Amino acid sequence: MSYTVGILGAGKIGEALAMGIMARGLVPAGQIILSVRSERHRAELEARSGIRAVVDNAIVAAEADTLILAVKPKSVSDLIAEVAPLLGPGKLLISTAAGVSLELLESCAPEGTPVIRTMPNMAVGIGEGMTVLSPGRFVKSEQLEWATSLFRAVGRAIVLEEEHMDAVTGLSGSGPAYVYIIIESLSDGGVKLGLPRDVATELAAQTVLGAARNVLLTGEHPAKLKDQVTTPAGVTIDGILELEAGRLRVTLINAVVKAAERSRQLLHRLH
Ligand SMILES: NC(=O)c1ccc[n+]([C@@H]2O[C@H](COP(=O)([O-])OP(=O)(O)OC[C@H]3O[C@@H](n4cnc5c(N)ncnc54)[C@H](OP(=O)(O)O)[C@@H]3O)[C@@H](O)[C@H]2O)c1
Repeated sequence: MSYTVGILGAGKIGEALAMGIMARGLVPAGQIILSVRSERHRAELEARSGIRAVVDNAIVAAEADTLILAVKPKSVSDLIAEVAPLLGPGKLLISTAAGVSLELLESCAPEGTPVIRTMPNMAVGIGEGMTVLSPGRFVKSEQLEWATSLFRAVGRAIVLEEEHMDAVTGLSGSGPAYVYIIIESLSDGGVKLGLPRDVATELAAQTVLGAARNVLLTGEHPAKLKDQVTTPAGVTIDGILELEAGRLRVTLINAVVKAAERSRQLLHRLH
């Protein structure tokens, strides 16, 4: 299955997605088309990405079979209304907007339009994204497979019931920001002990990457992997004691919960 992919609102996430999909060779550059609002942004985007960009959403909606909606949540309904005459059962509409429900998306589009709500994260731009997809009422299995394969080309992708989307938003959607803070803080620790900043940041980032890969590759519980590197009466347990005293676990759990709550509030404001 192959489609022309249109990205309506190619800002940070839309451009990252387009670059990732193109780089992985799933869809050639000539079968991707982007839209933005301003001519200046359009020209910069086209020069930077090598992908055709326009300021007319109708062109994208007419030419593409798969439409990825990547504007801010508050702009979603207006944008769908703008291209609605071009939508229908033959156009797959994929939304990346945080907190915008399938119900709202389907209500803005003509009856029968297949709609998929997604929550990707910024790492799609480097092929290491985490995306969760929830299909609407009119999505056929091959359309869901195609959409999943698009996001698998730029990282991991799984399908979940929509009820989990707020949790997903608080965890993998916002999560890169939390992990950047963790990396920066680990790096600060190295700098405090005299390491040059660039060395400390490389050590911190590769340590996070290695630990994350180990969790995904082995499928082991993180606690078991933690125990494997924590020698009795050794060095690491002293570091862990400080993390516990600083309530790192509770802080991270609360960060996910708070961000999920905010995602839920956003949904209520949009409805
Ligand atoms: N950033 C993330 O990490 C992330 C993660 C998951 C999901 N999301 C979701 O992805 C969506 C986009 O987020 P973002 O961070 O990529 O925002 P962004 O950088 O502001 O991108 C939005 C883009 O949409 C364009 N746009 C706005 N109105 C338009 C219209 N009527 N027609 C065509 N283009 C229009 C803007 O173009 P101009 O620049 O020309 O105005 C802008 O480039 C949001 O709904 C967000 O919830 C973001």
